[in-house]
Amino acid sequence: MLKTVWRQLRSPAPRETLSSLAAYERWAEQYPPHAHNALMEAEEAAMKQLYPSLVGQVVLDLACGSGRYGLIATDEGASVAIGLDNSRPMLRQNPMVLKALSTTEKIPLASASIDVVLCGLALGHLKQLDTSMVEIGRVLKTNGCALVSDFHPFIFLNGQQRTFTTADGQSFAVEHYVHLYADYHAAAYQAGLRIDAVLEPRLGQTQDVRFADSKTQQGTPIIIAYRFVKAT
Ligand SMILES: C[S@@+](CC[C@H](N)C(=O)[O-])C[C@H]1O[C@@H](n2cnc3c(N)ncnc32)[C@H](O)[C@@H]1O
Repeated sequence: MLKTVWRQLRSPAPRETLSSLAAYERWAEQYPPHAHNALMEAEEAAMKQLYPSLVGQVVLDLACGSGRYGLIATDEGASVAIGLDNSRPMLRQNPMVLKALSTTEKIPLASASIDVVLCGLALGHLKQLDTSMVEIGRVLKTNGCALVSDFHPFIFLNGQQRTFTTADGQSFAVEHYVHLYADYHAAAYQAGLRIDAVLEPRLGQTQDVRFADSKTQQGTPIIIAYRFVKAT
């Protein structure tokens, strides 16, 4: 069956661009705690390929939203799963037991307290990666790892936007900043992290997916997922 990635990433008429906070305030009620489009399915498959066994691990779902990765961590045997997000409406949708309001830039957890950080599709909302990456590095234990996914720069440089449609049919773009591999590399280095593995799933690679517009061709990378390890 042909699935179409079009809700989040299409480029029709110009539309109002909302800040991340304003966007998730309107979007939260329709944002379930599981992959809900083909692009998220491709992203989740890449993240699952990259993360280690979570059994007995202390896991932080950073920018957890409605809790997708925190719930996966619990299902996969994490001893503790903590969710942090800066959107109250998203946290209200989130069934995780341990969750709190927090930005990625100032994580309210002790240094060296986390085994695995999972951060899905969130850092692209930030203008700068550096402060958040330093915080990720700080809370990780030595040899701990962070799995971070982002929309692939190629699709934005191709003119796509990150969009959503509200229950009453209003369509908005959401602020997104392109961070290149080099930006993640530099931010990781500064944070005492090294890039250990990277996956770039492509349009049409793992499932029969296309964009609603014709600009993004089959074979274009749509997601980039990084595994960072805290250096000793
Ligand atoms: C695309 S959603 C992804 C949610 C979840 N990680 C997932 O993969 O299902 C992005 C999330 O990042 C959160 N977010 C954006 N900027 C943030 C920041 N500076 N600090 C904490 N959370 C942030 C948003 O509120 C939203 O819940």
